[in-house]
Amino acid sequence: MMEKISVVKKIEAYWDKRSDSFDADHDTEDLQAWMEALECLLGSDKNRNVLDLGTGTGFLANMTARLGHSTIGIDISKEMMNFGVKHAKTVGSDAIFMEGSVLELPFMDNTVDFIINSRLIWTLVEPDMAIKEWLRILKPGGKMMCFNRMKEGVGLNIGKVNIYEDEEVDKQLAIKGARMEELRDLLERNGLVDVQIQKLSGLTRPGYDYDPWFVLMGTKDEAENRFIS
Ligand SMILES: C[S@@+](CC[C@H](N)C(=O)[O-])C[C@H]1O[C@@H](n2cnc3c(N)ncnc32)[C@H](O)[C@@H]1O
Repeated sequence: MMEKISVVKKIEAYWDKRSDSFDADHDTEDLQAWMEALECLLGSDKNRNVLDLGTGTGFLANMTARLGHSTIGIDISKEMMNFGVKHAKTVGSDAIFMEGSVLELPFMDNTVDFIINSRLIWTLVEPDMAIKEWLRILKPGGKMMCFNRMKEGVGLNIGKVNIYEDEEVDKQLAIKGARMEELRDLLERNGLVDVQIQKLSGLTRPGYDYDPWFVLMGTKDEAENRFIS
């Protein structure tokens, strides 16, 4: 257990330090195209709440809040979220930001409509444990959406080896190079249904030669309703 805490601390320290430059990296994104894509994926019912895991500088959370969804962003790095809070004021988002680990979420079972995250899953040290935890708080019929840039026809393509400058931590990033079928399997073996990967075209501004965005999605089976009293 101590080992896991020290790994999470390393990840937190890294993202705290990286917050400035990471925030600037979002210049690559076409925010209008993102808003349209998110609106299409989340649907027109604004009564559905959203939880953005590993929210970082609030990239997704501030957009879903602006679309009218009650939104909470959660992250272990306060330095990253300081940017999220600042951006919320600028863009008119009422997203709430809170500090916490995505491996142990401070929410009751079956209470969240949409669990979203972007560029988070490759940083997970315990992906199976994480997906089970996310499924626990998802409402039956609720959806999980994991946004990532991926190499077309291949999968996650995180080239930077040993990002945390600690080989032990790096070895524990279990899915940083996962293929698309491995990612689908990750959601299916942990209980999600209707698992699919969809390509999202046009989200990167012209002039950037990056891998395209994809969303890995799954639903919590409605049949789970039977177990809720
Ligand atoms: C690559 S950044 C992505 C940030 C944001 N979602 C975006 O796309 O701009 C990954 C984020 O996940 C957070 N993170 C990694 N592991 C976490 C964990 N176990 N619990 C909470 N946050 C975590 C990091 O602190 C960091 O802010």
